[in-house]
Amino acid sequence: MTRRMYVVGNWKMHGVAEDIPQIQAIAEGAKSYPGVDVALCVPSILIERAARAVPGFPIGAQDVHFAEKGAHTGCVSSAMLRDAGAKLTIVGHSERREGQHESDEEVRSKAKAALADDLSVILCVGESLAIREAGTAVMTVQAQLDASLPEGAVGSVATRLAVAYEPIWAIGTGKVASLADLGEMHAALRERLLVAYGDAGREVRILYGGSVNASNAAEIFAVEDVDGALVGGASLTADKFLPIVEAAA
Ligand code: G3P
Repeated sequence: MTRRMYVVGNWKMHGVAEDIPQIQAIAEGAKSYPGVDVALCVPSILIERAARAVPGFPIGAQDVHFAEKGAHTGCVSSAMLRDAGAKLTIVGHSERREGQHESDEEVRSKAKAALADDLSVILCVGESLAIREAGTAVMTVQAQLDASLPEGAVGSVATRLAVAYEPIWAIGTGKVASLADLGEMHAALRERLLVAYGDAGREVRILYGGSVNASNAAEIFAVEDVDGALVGGASLTADKFLPIVEAAA
């Protein structure tokens, strides 16, 4: 089966009203690459303004709470995200797993809640430098995926679920996993998706994230089982982000 390439910007804690023109420029520019799915995940407080500014272009969140509603001060539910105009959300980013101590179980619950609420989900996994250097990256990240994936048949929602492999040591550092390591990891993650979901596991896209930019995107996208990228720093402006989308086309 052919999976459509998927290039998603993660704006992290960047973006205020004056950045909306960049979002518009990215949405406009993405129209030149109809074969690539493009989306931007912005701070939750910017979602509504961004979604109104670029009708038809998918704006997403960077996190979601697993509960429907209730006593969770400061948190946002999937229904709230949808209400604001979001079409997708990231879950389990390493900056949240580390900074907010999110467990695999919590990430799984978040993914389930978002999928049940018709959002698309990008579920992040990735190893630390210590694990990479210890030679146990593949088995560690496979175990992390097994424990974070929504269990049971995903069937019709498989195309709404993507996994992002983001080695922690490659995020914002300018370092990228070697193409051989990347290929090995993506194949290992595909194997776990097939175990978890059977044939539907082939439809789940596996993105790479970690210092992707205009100069390295093409070679990364040429690796087997790399179905796109989750891009941080280089997604903040159209001039840096659109060449990455072009490399996926
Ligand atoms: O989620 C994207 C990410 O963590 C990678 O960030 O800045 O290395 O592209 P960056």
